[in-house]
Amino acid sequence: MSWNPELYHKFQEERFAPYYDLIDLISVKEGIEGLDLGCGTGELTKMLSEKLPASRILGIDSSPAMLEQAKDKSAPGLSFELRSIMDIEGEWDLIFSNAAIQWVQEHRELIPKLLSHIRPGGQLAIQIPSNHNHPTQDFILETGREEPFSTALKGWTRSYSVLTIREYSELLYDSEGEDIVVFEKIYPHVLPDSYAVLDWLSGTAILPYLERLPVELHEPFLGVIGEKLKESYPGSPVFYPYNRIFFSAHKPE
Ligand SMILES: C[S@@+](CC[C@H](N)C(=O)[O-])C[C@H]1O[C@@H](n2cnc3c(N)ncnc32)[C@H](O)[C@@H]1O
Repeated sequence: MSWNPELYHKFQEERFAPYYDLIDLISVKEGIEGLDLGCGTGELTKMLSEKLPASRILGIDSSPAMLEQAKDKSAPGLSFELRSIMDIEGEWDLIFSNAAIQWVQEHRELIPKLLSHIRPGGQLAIQIPSNHNHPTQDFILETGREEPFSTALKGWTRSYSVLTIREYSELLYDSEGEDIVVFEKIYPHVLPDSYAVLDWLSGTAILPYLERLPVELHEPFLGVIGEKLKESYPGSPVFYPYNRIFFSAHKPE
């Protein structure tokens, strides 16, 4: 998918906030081997490596554009690699991921697989946006079903992989996870106006549509969604509550 690092970072403060809640779930240890799935431009991977003294942290991501910006953060004990979350290898003391695994389908298979790559005593710690029930997501879905977009998309619309917090807790328990923590939190973002909401969505949820639409339909697609947003959020500022799921579990010693 064609990620745009500049657009993604437009809401850096809001997007980083859940990272601190995720970090709080980690049992800080020294000298461990950690893997950051979907590390993006690497800022958070760097912050993670600074939290874990004398550790070796590898950030993986499938977007060359995002990784290009991560490269300059490489340091002793911190490296980055172009690799899909689906292709992880090896054993790790920590598998960590902030706002990335929602792009991978089949979480009922993914979560046990991730735990199988964790060493005894190690930890899985994940944050995933769970805002797929927000009305703005319906605007994207609905617009994808309208013409001329539906024909250009050959009827494709995005399906969401995110499960409920109860299902994540069950998956962790069934995969022999211990010290299970699972919760959902709302971040009460306040954005200047509906255009800012469109910018937010253009940096993430709209991307899979743009990737599949011909370039000449990008502006019209964004225009239709923009109109729907303007109608729903005519004022300023716009309250944009954003749900996120957190979960963590340890592998038995
Ligand atoms: C919303 S960004 C999050 C980046 C970073 N973790 C952060 O919190 O700032 C999602 C990242 O997941 C990556 N991604 C999506 N699907 C992936 C996959 N199958 N394998 C590896 N990375 C993936 C994207 O390229 C993107 O950089």
